[in-house]
Amino acid sequence: MSAVRVAPSLLAADLTRLAEEVRSAEAAGADMLHLDVMDGVWVPNLTFGPGLCAALARITQLPLDVHLMVANPDALVQPFVAAGAKSIAVHVEAVPHLHRTLVRIRELGASPGVALNPLTSLASLEEVWPFVDFLLLMTVNPGFGGQALIPETLGKLARLHALRQARRPEVLLAVDGGVTVTNAPSLVASGADILVAGTAFFGASDRKAVVAAFKGGRA
Ligand code: DX5
Ligand code: ZN
Repeated sequence: MSAVRVAPSLLAADLTRLAEEVRSAEAAGADMLHLDVMDGVWVPNLTFGPGLCAALARITQLPLDVHLMVANPDALVQPFVAAGAKSIAVHVEAVPHLHRTLVRIRELGASPGVALNPLTSLASLEEVWPFVDFLLLMTVNPGFGGQALIPETLGKLARLHALRQARRPEVLLAVDGGVTVTNAPSLVASGADILVAGTAFFGASDRKAVVAAFKGGRA
């Protein structure tokens, strides 16, 4: 099993000082930057577009990990890859022709992933395994940072981990929402490879310590 990867979510960064926040994530040992893309339709919040992604790509070498929470993900795949996104997660609940979308993300040169809301059944992943590099398990309902992790998602993660080991062990499992230094050890023990964290990372004064705590045991 490889080291845990940490993906700070820019949703919780101080947007008036974004370049400094990116430097701080680099210095703290983050492995990638997570961009929560919300359209005010599929989720009741509005955030970043490809323009911000392109601006970030000009100031950092960290891989840009795009999480699309929008009504029409297909329209944004190409613009985000062109803007420098290295990985793109689309929601199984939002995409009508998932195979087409995942193949397109890979053809464009990015890493395809599928995201799942807290109460979406793992059965929806049955045919997805050959087409993804990672799965993003939502541990809160998408739309906002700073929510508490839904405890029942831990058992779901453990079941997903077992499925992954049986189906395609190289597929990485990311968890997103309410991740803290307190619950990170249970998430990692349950099979998480990538910890997405907004509030727990950008809200901390010692961000290096947060990354170290997240990686504890599997650094
Ligand atoms: C929620 C987003 C998350 C969110 C995590 O819709 O997908 O990435 O920013 O934020 P925290 O870590 O504050 O729960
Ligand atoms: Zn996210």
